[in-house]
Amino acid sequence: MEKVIVVSENGPYIVRGGIPLVEKRITKTSDGWEWAEGRELPQKEVYALCRCGKSKNAPFCDGESHKRFKGQETADRRPFEERAERLEGPGLTILDDRRCSKSYFCHTNDGSTWEMLPRTGDPDVKEKVVRACNACPSGRTVAIDRDGTVLEDELPERITVIQHSYDRVGSGLYVTGGIKLVSPDGSEYPVQNRMVLCRCGNSRNKPFCDATHINSRFKDSNGLP
Ligand code: SF4
Ligand code: FES
Repeated sequence: MEKVIVVSENGPYIVRGGIPLVEKRITKTSDGWEWAEGRELPQKEVYALCRCGKSKNAPFCDGESHKRFKGQETADRRPFEERAERLEGPGLTILDDRRCSKSYFCHTNDGSTWEMLPRTGDPDVKEKVVRACNACPSGRTVAIDRDGTVLEDELPERITVIQHSYDRVGSGLYVTGGIKLVSPDGSEYPVQNRMVLCRCGNSRNKPFCDATHINSRFKDSNGLP
């Protein structure tokens, strides 16, 4: 079965094709940020992930709590390259579409991705910027080398339920590996290697996460691990 995530109308994400599902926690370390293991989740060929934030069986849809959910998709559907701004540094170009789920991986002890960009003439700084770009779950930043090579890591086909241990909130669904994302009418979003889908139900950029879960202090029905 083809791997695909279908955004259902005012309901869950229907996941097909046995896409591996894991839970991870974002934690702060002395060097920055890292992923820690979360709880083990059941693996299924087809499953429904809650999109309204109200399920009593998170991260799965419980089949009824979304009854009053208005889940209209509002995101810009143009390809990333068309939506993104080009930011130039001496060693790199960064494409930045400003789609952010506030996971903080772009903030390092040497400054943020954007603060380091003017110093990318230094190979060590350049490497840090490439790493920070690739670490962004939302796929906000993509690094391009001077010769035009897109410096994008290969990532596994997987869905990661994010728990933000530092902010003490539940975050979105981190989808990696270029999995197809489809609207209820069958139209497809441009494929992305990294993206975060809303699972609190409150994003103004549905189906993508816009970090509203932080202000709304979202916690799913299983709480934080
Ligand atoms: S989602 Fe990306 S841009 Fe936003 S804070 Fe995290 S790493 Fe930075
Ligand atoms: S989408 Fe079904 S309970 Fe949330």
